Amino acid sequence: MTDTSMTYIQFLLDERRRLDTDRDLTTLLHSVATACKAISNTLKNGALADVLGSLESENVQGETQKKLDVIANDIFLQRCEFSGVLAAMVSEEMDHIYDIPSRFPKGRYVLLFDPLDGSSNIDVNVSVGSIFSILRLPEVPDTNSYDAVLRPGVEQVAAGYALYGPSTMLVLTTGNGVNGFTLDGNIGEFRLTHHNITIPEDAAEFSINASRAQWWEPPVQRYVEECVAGANGPRGKYFNMRWVASMVAEVHRILLRGGVFLYPIDEKNRDAGGKLRLFYEANPMAYLIEQAGGAASTGRERIMEIAPQSPHQRVPVALGSRHEIARLERYHQEYDAQSS
Ligand code: AHG
Ligand code: MN
Ligand code: MN
Repeated sequence: MTDTSMTYIQFLLDERRRLDTDRDLTTLLHSVATACKAISNTLKNGALADVLGSLESENVQGETQKKLDVIANDIFLQRCEFSGVLAAMVSEEMDHIYDIPSRFPKGRYVLLFDPLDGSSNIDVNVSVGSIFSILRLPEVPDTNSYDAVLRPGVEQVAAGYALYGPSTMLVLTTGNGVNGFTLDGNIGEFRLTHHNITIPEDAAEFSINASRAQWWEPPVQRYVEECVAGANGPRGKYFNMRWVASMVAEVHRILLRGGVFLYPIDEKNRDAGGKLRLFYEANPMAYLIEQAGGAASTGRERIMEIAPQSPHQRVPVALGSRHEIARLERYHQEYDAQSS
């Protein structure tokens, strides 16, 4: 059997045999993939299934919830709480840490997820995704322990995303590189199509919401201005720019053809700490990007080393090709040294 015909579950079983990974992790990764398949299926019929549009409700971050944010969240809960290997779940769409109902067995794993990323794109039929991060606690917590899940990204044991685009893909790391799977509609299974994804060290494409330029810090302004200056500027080459407004789509593009993605702290989001959430956006994407040979930083520190204070904490994000992130960090250092 060639690699391209391997199903996701075969891949997980093969990894388990080769690397002696924990059986419970395989169970959980299988449950997550089932949730992603169910979400993909729900998205497919769009307006026909009356799943588009917003609800009256807001999530804990003050964002209006889309119908599909809530539907996707429920799918994750339903598919994963049953697994018997989870201690708790954390979701963008739930105010509090979700304790596993007592009718299910409890385990040592914590699943942190963004059930639907890029949800502003749903109503205009542009790609969205789901993002997940998995932590393993030292033991099964006997009480509902809030602090037990506040672990840094370096302790993740797996992370990934599903991209609901022209095809549905699942991209995964368990700390042994990054692999991509495409949903085969004929058999209803993900199949390995992108083996051992690696990011080029240099890039000629950047991603940032430039409508916020007036609020950026000087090091971010400097970085983007130099890219835009093209072949006659200090970089001596042309850069292309893309902004989908779905982090999953942006990260997927960077994994496959290089580039950088920035959602920096700025004057407008400074009080919140940035835009993207550490637990279920920044950390899992940082893990994937690093595993593919790239880098992920706030501009001032490695994202995965941040000690979390709260489940919905936001952080500045810069990730992608290694040399570009190193340059951006240097611009921050130079600026901070000059202003202190
Ligand atoms: P979510 O839909 O889960 O709230 O996340 C949206 C995020 C991310 O996917 C994207 O990169 C960014 O927010 C888009 O921000 P702008 O609205 O500033 O474009
Ligand atoms: Mn998101
Ligand atoms: Mn979301």
